Amino acid sequence: MSLNPETFKNAMRRFATGVTVVTSLKDGEPRGVTVSAFASVSLEPPSVLICINREARSYLFISSSKIFCVNVLSADQEHLARRFSGKLRDKQFEGVDYFVDQTGAAVLNGSLAHLDCEVTAEHHVASHSIFIGKVLSVATRSGSPLGYFGGDFHDFGLNIS
Ligand SMILES: Cc1cc2nc3c(=O)[nH]c(=O)nc-3n(C[C@H](O)[C@H](O)[C@H](O)COP(=O)(O)O)c2cc1C
Repeated sequence: MSLNPETFKNAMRRFATGVTVVTSLKDGEPRGVTVSAFASVSLEPPSVLICINREARSYLFISSSKIFCVNVLSADQEHLARRFSGKLRDKQFEGVDYFVDQTGAAVLNGSLAHLDCEVTAEHHVASHSIFIGKVLSVATRSGSPLGYFGGDFHDFGLNIS
């Protein structure tokens, strides 16, 4: 029995998520990809997961460098979500303000939180890889989150300080 892909997508569109840009680094070159498949896994050790399409350019960066940084976007960073889900081959970071933490992956200025991680496991599941990352360093900021629901970006009108 196989499920119609549209039926599956229709169900997933009803799940409201935040939006992140996951960054990585290979041979000194930064790379980022917009990701909503992000979740907390464990507290001891602090671990998260991200789910990455193995056809995405970012995939090779993360799998070879074994580091990534999750940037949780704020509502006023929608332009970054669009930029890092576009098909920019290079100059992805042109005009983007960022700094680095422990791993060297880009931390986007103004993100609500960043979690700097080293990869501890990779699991292939169909077209995607689930990366488990041990969180080495985090920082948080106050603000309103960028949301994704019904196939579009939203400001959910929430705030955290
Ligand atoms: C809101 C949103 C969420 C996304 N979430 C994911 C995700 O969790 N995993 C993934 O592999 N791609 C996700 N994508 C798609 C990638 O951002 C997109 O395919 C990107 O172009 C890949 O870039 P790259 O090939 O330069 O790495 C998402 C896109 C959007 C707009």
